[in-house]
Amino acid sequence: MNMESPEKTFSKVPDELSSAYRLIDSELEQVQALLHDLLKQTSKETEEIVRYSFKLGGKRLRPVLVLLSGKVAGAIRQEHLYAASALELIHTGTLVHDDILDGAQFRRHLETIHVRWDSKAAVLAGDYLLILAILMITRCRDLNAYQIVAEACRATCDGELRQNRNCSHFEMSLEEYQKIIGGKTASLLECSCELGAYFSGADQDRINCFKNFGYDLGISFQIVDDILDLVGDEENTGKTLGTDLINHKPTLPLILYLESASKSDRTEMLDLLNRNEMDQKICDTIRQQLIGSGSVRKAKEYAKSILENACQKISNNTQADRNADQAAAMEALFDVARFVVARKL
Ligand code: IPE
Ligand code: IPE
Ligand code: MG
Ligand code: MG
Repeated sequence: MNMESPEKTFSKVPDELSSAYRLIDSELEQVQALLHDLLKQTSKETEEIVRYSFKLGGKRLRPVLVLLSGKVAGAIRQEHLYAASALELIHTGTLVHDDILDGAQFRRHLETIHVRWDSKAAVLAGDYLLILAILMITRCRDLNAYQIVAEACRATCDGELRQNRNCSHFEMSLEEYQKIIGGKTASLLECSCELGAYFSGADQDRINCFKNFGYDLGISFQIVDDILDLVGDEENTGKTLGTDLINHKPTLPLILYLESASKSDRTEMLDLLNRNEMDQKICDTIRQQLIGSGSVRKAKEYAKSILENACQKISNNTQADRNADQAAAMEALFDVARFVVARKL
């Protein structure tokens, strides 16, 4: 894989999202400034590793959702910026921990922290980022917001714990899978959209509508992430792929395959999935089966249908009282939704 230099700050925005991001350009820069300001209060020893974790930046999807939801629901205030920064810190902290759990070597085109330093440093750095997030959200001086964020963190950890306990449970139902990804991924995207609407002073009905939109977006996002882990390209994603099979994680293409396969295909697949040593050849065989049977395509269609529904609902809720700026922000939010399904990174 082509690796970026750790000294270079990378802020490549996916092409499909450039017009959506342009709408919140200056706010995103302020979020970036808030994050970099945190380095000032960090000791020299800690700074190096925290600075490294900010490199490249990722897609900044959670801040983007806070800001665009805020714009659709009203106007952006300082609290949106704090919330956007806090959620990016939580996200980054969970990824640092997640990469230890998954044994991933690369993230955002760089070596993962546990590889570059060690697991002890990565556990502590992940904790540090999560504490920075708490400090950031307290700047809002809003107990409700604090509670919303804490609940999202609880659900994220619960999802990761459940996933860990369900390794090799390939015959889990769609509902069980959805609850796991709902916790580990959708809860933070839900929280992003919810806080966006909340800080714009929307009423509870509208806040709930944004919250549900974020949740559905998160479910689709993780389904696509699982598909990319299976059939994606490391050059595009910049992260280690194929870890779900190696770590015996049940994902949607597998669940759909096992649901509809003949008895013998099913037994054969379970036999492959449960091998202790997952070598490249076994992974390739599984991958071909999942593609050939249409299970990957069906998983993608499922993600797409959830999002189309979600877009319809939020559009209906906000349509009546949107001005031109709000309508543009809504279009940008739809761009994000389309990107989530079509993305290659
Ligand atoms: C990756 O999230 C982890 C998941 C929740 C699936 P992103 O794909 O949003 O990661 P970055 O922030 O762009 O690197
Ligand atoms: C994301 O899950 C983990 C969290 C949401 C904390 P994955 O393990 O599937 O994410 P990637 O694929 O490593 O980015
Ligand atoms: Mg992972
Ligand atoms: Mg993944």
